[in-house]
Amino acid sequence: MTDLWQDAMDHAVSAARGAGQVVREALLEDRMVMVKSSSVDLVTQTDQKVEQLIIQSVKEKFPTHRFIGEESVAAGEPCVLSDEPTWIIDPIDGTTNFVHRFPFVAVSIGFSVNKQRAEPAGRASGPGQQRAGPAGPGQQLSRASGPSQRAGPAAEPLLAFLQVEFGVVYSCLEDKMFTARRGRGSFCNGDPLQVSEQKAIQQSIIATEFGSDRDPEVVDKIFSSLRNILCIPVHGIRSAGTAAINMCLVASGCVEAYYEIGMHVWDLAAASLIVSEAGGVLMDVEGGPFDLMSRRVIAANNRTIAERISGEIQAYAPARDDAA
Ligand code: IPD
Repeated sequence: MTDLWQDAMDHAVSAARGAGQVVREALLEDRMVMVKSSSVDLVTQTDQKVEQLIIQSVKEKFPTHRFIGEESVAAGEPCVLSDEPTWIIDPIDGTTNFVHRFPFVAVSIGFSVNKQRAEPAGRASGPGQQRAGPAGPGQQLSRASGPSQRAGPAAEPLLAFLQVEFGVVYSCLEDKMFTARRGRGSFCNGDPLQVSEQKAIQQSIIATEFGSDRDPEVVDKIFSSLRNILCIPVHGIRSAGTAAINMCLVASGCVEAYYEIGMHVWDLAAASLIVSEAGGVLMDVEGGPFDLMSRRVIAANNRTIAERISGEIQAYAPARDDAA
């Protein structure tokens, strides 16, 4: 089977590794901090430099490809997914961590193509892939089985409405390279990932973030959701300070779920595939299908835990990433 996108994925891994080196070096220097949407939405010259480095290197190799980059969008570029091959880049996920040297920082590169196009069974599937769960326009399929449980090609046509073809998240201070290719599983430094098998939310750790919205009404909702979930009760709540790493922790089985409202498509794109290819599920915070542009996500090890979390969240709807 012709593999259209392996070159692109190999390039993404190498670009993420190079970007991670720049980030590590920049941590040793003074960082000039600027603000974006609010006084707590931070950006540095390193975010901008790393994004340009990645985009330039991709343009040289794939001149027709498109981009959605966090800092390019902040500078006025459109945030649109289409059928065209599109690189979705967060040069530093965890900018606040980076500014404070809190040691979790990731370079995130997702790649989408053929938005909302149904494909025949097996076209993009790896050996022995199985899928289950809901599908719909613009949604990530969820998968019931992890890499170790796959057997035989998919028996029925797969509606591949997935938007993300591959995802690369480089946790550059830990030197962990998380990768996923649609239908071929998720990996960390080459080792396969599998979500936790825990079925009881009462015995789970849940990750979330507090985001950068300081509107008191929003903060009240965040704390109300947190209170509800903590009092289920769960074993604990964690925040890595980066959406991408939180989701890679779900894929790795270290936490059972992550939820947040307010992060962006560039925080989510790559890691959403890493979660689903590790056997996890993706869901909207109100229990509907996951939508990459909605700025809302529950990523969990299984549907039961995802649904329980959705029942406890005080939902709200920030402006979509693709809002005109
Ligand atoms: C942020 C991080 C953070 C999350 C925010 C994101 P950035 O991304 O992922 O964990 O709470 O919602 O915007 O700005 O560091 O790329």
